[in-house]
Amino acid sequence: MSIVSELYQTRWVRERYDRQAATYDLKAAFVEPMIALWRQWLWKHVRGPRILEIGVGTGRNFPYYRPEWEIIAVDLSERMLERARRKAQRLGLKVRLLPMDAQCLAFPDAFFDTVIATWVFCSVPDPVRGLREAYRVLRPGGRLLLLEHVRAPDPLGRWMDFLDPLVVRWSGAHINRRTVENVRQAGFEIEALHTSFFGIVKRIVARRSEATS
Ligand SMILES: C[S@@+](CC[C@H](N)C(=O)[O-])C[C@H]1O[C@@H](n2cnc3c(N)ncnc32)[C@H](O)[C@@H]1O
Repeated sequence: MSIVSELYQTRWVRERYDRQAATYDLKAAFVEPMIALWRQWLWKHVRGPRILEIGVGTGRNFPYYRPEWEIIAVDLSERMLERARRKAQRLGLKVRLLPMDAQCLAFPDAFFDTVIATWVFCSVPDPVRGLREAYRVLRPGGRLLLLEHVRAPDPLGRWMDFLDPLVVRWSGAHINRRTVENVRQAGFEIEALHTSFFGIVKRIVARRSEATS
């Protein structure tokens, strides 16, 4: 992907989520009872003390934050972050919330013990670049934890390919991402992989190898 196209798409995704911020929690509340079990499972794999949450949105993962962790949470959309800030204040949470693009993280190499993201890499314009950034900022042996919707196996996958251009226009998110393959391509080893909902939902525990490169 050319840098111009990536910048254009990134700005477009930011605008999409800025627009959705006001209604995001209302819409999410309908599916949250099912999703909560997947979130819980994922957060059980978090090891501190230093955690990065990418694409924090309005802070729907805040109930899983523990006081002993030092958490930095980033998002592309300022409007989503505003909501997250208010929620964090209400809950008395200690979290640093920063505007940042997953494709270009402003953190030193090997800084975090865990990087976590839920429903994010479907909308990052260059997901492999974002995942490589996650790899870079993780310490050797650190874990990447993802909850993502992905392209299902065929024949459903073929329909998802067909519908993707429409869905992405409407929501900003792709429905046919091959996130497991992308995680491998970014250099991670997959430690655990759980598939649900007709092959569409993946819970991924991936590890940066102990070797320092
Ligand atoms: C579907 S929402 C998920 C929010 C939250 N993680 C959750 O579980 O409800 C996707 C979030 O990812 C953010 N996002 C998309 N592309 C991003 C990028 N390149 N860098 C950082 N955040 C991004 C969006 O702004 C949005 O807040």
